[in-house]
Amino acid sequence: MASLPSSSTLLQIFATCALFACLHAQVVQEVGLVSNLDGISGFDPNATNLKRSDFATDFAFGVATAAAQIEGSAKVGGRGPSVWDHFVEKHPEKIPDGSTLDAIDSYRRYKEDVKMIEELGVNNYRFSISWTRILPNSEDDKLAAKRAMDFDLGWYMEPLVFGEYPQIMKQIVKQRLPSFSIEEKKLVKGSFDFIGVNYYTTRYAKNIPIDFQAPPISAIADRFITESTSKNGSFIGPKAEGSIFIYIYPVGLEKILVFMHENYQKPIIYITENGVAEKRNDSLPLTVSLKDPFRISFIRQHLYRINKAIQRGVNVKGYFHWTAADDIEWGEGSIPRFGLYFVDYKSNLTRIPKLSAKWFQGFLQGN
Ligand SMILES: *[C@@H]1O[C@H](CO)[C@@H](O)[C@H](O)[C@H]1NC(C)=O
Ligand SMILES: *[C@@H]1O[C@H](CO)[C@@H](O)[C@H](O)[C@H]1NC(C)=O
Ligand SMILES: *[C@@H]1O[C@H](CO)[C@@H](O)[C@H](O)[C@H]1NC(C)=O
Ligand SMILES: *[C@@H]1O[C@H](CO)[C@@H](O)[C@H](O)[C@H]1NC(C)=O
Repeated sequence: MASLPSSSTLLQIFATCALFACLHAQVVQEVGLVSNLDGISGFDPNATNLKRSDFATDFAFGVATAAAQIEGSAKVGGRGPSVWDHFVEKHPEKIPDGSTLDAIDSYRRYKEDVKMIEELGVNNYRFSISWTRILPNSEDDKLAAKRAMDFDLGWYMEPLVFGEYPQIMKQIVKQRLPSFSIEEKKLVKGSFDFIGVNYYTTRYAKNIPIDFQAPPISAIADRFITESTSKNGSFIGPKAEGSIFIYIYPVGLEKILVFMHENYQKPIIYITENGVAEKRNDSLPLTVSLKDPFRISFIRQHLYRINKAIQRGVNVKGYFHWTAADDIEWGEGSIPRFGLYFVDYKSNLTRIPKLSAKWFQGFLQGN
């Protein structure tokens, strides 16, 4: 994904604690490589019939990448150091597999990579806001989930749509929340052409009674919720083997699209990121590493939900899959493999299409 904001990292720690607190012997179902999601309960079998022609001809299909995660050549071409460059140089020990700024060398191999993406047959290439969709449990928790949405999404969306921060944020955050002048309101309100949604996963939200007198805390604690990946001992979805935070929940995408349509005046939306990872394992034979049926069903299930949202009136105009070739996932290094193309780290970073790349190509051709 393009960035894992520190908030998500913290929330992940939160969620993990909650998970260990409420689960005993239950083992989460993990998916990667040879597993297929289509048979799993909660995944709609009708998604297997989805076709390119179920989307408007001008619906944009693409892949998303991000410079820092693929380029390498950090010091070439007059590029100045970024916060990320400083972090990697200062704290190499924080990247578990020792991945460096060399990434996958796309800076020098860009011609090859453009060809690779052309081969997929996508008509777009995206050269980002990240949030998790939050689901409620009980009545109190419904309000908590709405509050979490107001903090995580309304924080950006309400100024863009209404020229104001969400009411509940004003009440809780008080003077720590800046206020817009009349001029600023005019500037920001309606100042977008479309909204890009990065969707990977969903969490449950549980209410913590709000203390309006609490001393200044943090953007996460201000929400007064506890996040969880499970409810009553059941996980929200199967866990992606290669990711520390993705529990697969395609319906969440339909829900967040409808939520945005209903709450933010029907904006034009592009899915600017959506993807899933298997874990890098250099001792697997190549034939096994290229077999990723779980990614095919992941894409299909999410496209199906986008299609449902469009049928419900949501203005979704495109889908950009994360990502073209396995990349460097920030603090997780090259351990999560998010690509449609496999990068052979043992053999000169060669790009090789996984099963999903071939499937996506066929899907786009109408097969
Ligand atoms: C799947 O498709 C069939 C045939 O169109 C329809 O009757 C059924 O309701 C669909 N199932 C779901 C869960 O949407
Ligand atoms: C919670 O789980 C228990 C045990 O599995 C089950 O008996 C109960 O019906 C569940 N409650 C809800 C609300 O799903
Ligand atoms: C990597 O794959 C091999 C072969 O299937 C397996 O034995 C090993 O446990 C895997 N290693 C990890 C870290 O998952
Ligand atoms: C590695 O790949 C690059 C880019 O395709 C190529 O220019 C180079 O010659 C290759 N090196 C080796 C040792 O094969």
